[in-house]
Amino acid sequence: MRLYVNIDHVATIREARRTDEPDPVRAAAEAEAGGADGITVHLREDRRHIQDADVRALRRSGRTVLNLELGAHDDIVRLACRLRPFQATLVPERRREITTEGGLALRRGNRRLAGAIARLADAGIRVSLFIDPDLATLDRAASLGVPAIELHTGRYAHTWKKSGAALTVLRHAAAHARAAGLAVHAGHGLTYQNVQPVAAIPEIEELNIGHSIVSNAVFWGMEEAVRRMKRLVEEAQGLGG
Ligand code: PXP
Repeated sequence: MRLYVNIDHVATIREARRTDEPDPVRAAAEAEAGGADGITVHLREDRRHIQDADVRALRRSGRTVLNLELGAHDDIVRLACRLRPFQATLVPERRREITTEGGLALRRGNRRLAGAIARLADAGIRVSLFIDPDLATLDRAASLGVPAIELHTGRYAHTWKKSGAALTVLRHAAAHARAAGLAVHAGHGLTYQNVQPVAAIPEIEELNIGHSIVSNAVFWGMEEAVRRMKRLVEEAQGLGG
């Protein structure tokens, strides 16, 4: 199980003052020292946190790999193709949302999305689609020819204390995706409290976690915050699906 650490909110703090600290490159280095297998950033259309220069600097400096989240917007896809991160995760993006609110809809005949997938793949970038854990959507993702999908764990994150239903949905979706030949990633809303049941799903090979790690890095430091999350993820491996 790979742990990719999303460091968007390090840049959120910096942009609150439009200054040069805290530095996402330093955060990435400390996350890697704590055991991160990859660094994730979302280059949003409104550039509210991560900036183009951050992606460029992270691409040059990282010891691990860079996973760039992006909407299928022409200029951002063009930039991604130029910067060539290891992986690009396509996400739906609305300007007014606080964070990514749902998975990609994957409507038939979405030429913009299909075009973005083709351009990124042609640039040698591994493409993943962020989607809800819905079987029909998974089948459409498989038909688009991508190697990987990221299951949206937001519903699980909102409901896990009260009900196990969303976890069951994630388990079925992960098995279905793997059977369709897709590599399975997961993320959104995962925390130190709720990560283990998801990390125990055997088909999931990568987790993307941001807000909870950055929040706790304020108290523990980034390296220790990642180390603690990584330990929980590794412990969960033994727990079975
Ligand atoms: N995966 C995707 C596709 C996301 O958009 C986000 C949020 O940027 C995450 C994972 C991480 O979510 P969180 O910050 O809630 O851990």
